[in-house]
Amino acid sequence: MRSIKMALGVVLGMAVAAGSLASADAMSDAIKYRKSMMEVTGYNFKMMAAMVKKEMPFDKAQFEKMASTVHTMSMLTLDGFPKGSDSLAGDTNAKDAVWSEPAKFKDDVAAFQKASADLVAAAKTGDMAQIGPKFKDTAGSCKKCHDSFRSKSE
Ligand code: HEC
Repeated sequence: MRSIKMALGVVLGMAVAAGSLASADAMSDAIKYRKSMMEVTGYNFKMMAAMVKKEMPFDKAQFEKMASTVHTMSMLTLDGFPKGSDSLAGDTNAKDAVWSEPAKFKDDVAAFQKASADLVAAAKTGDMAQIGPKFKDTAGSCKKCHDSFRSKSE
């Protein structure tokens, strides 16, 4: 009986250890996930900027697709910052304020979601006079969050 209890204890102990390893791994994966998501956002954003600035010919269908990709990323943003995925979990430029000021962070995510949704709507018109200001608003939402919650702006 005693040895069964001990064996059980060992097995449970191992399960707990494996569980915490798995979650540490998940936390460093969360960092990779959000960085990739931000990279996708950044790439699409740069291409849209080039069209807005007329450095690239405006392609309505392509612009619409890029705007909607950025909006999709905005809807995933919160998922990329689970509790515990801070600088102890891996290589990140996210400030601890993401987790110590969650309400403020959520507001910035919401502003990003709203601005990018408006950008998608403007993109559907194909009218640069409507797209330009919405693009600026969305860029402002990136900057606002980066200023508060990102330790390094490249
Ligand atoms: C609600 C906050 C928030 C918003 C809005 C936001 N970002 Fe970020 N972004 C971050 C944080 C925090 C990081 C740092 C992530 C890390 O290092 O773990 C980051 C990192 C990045 C990176 C670097 C990714 C890497 O590989 O290290 C790029 C590029 C980027 N953001 C682009 C954008 C663009 C473009 C927008 C707007 C269209 C945007 N972000 C909107 C918070 C935000």
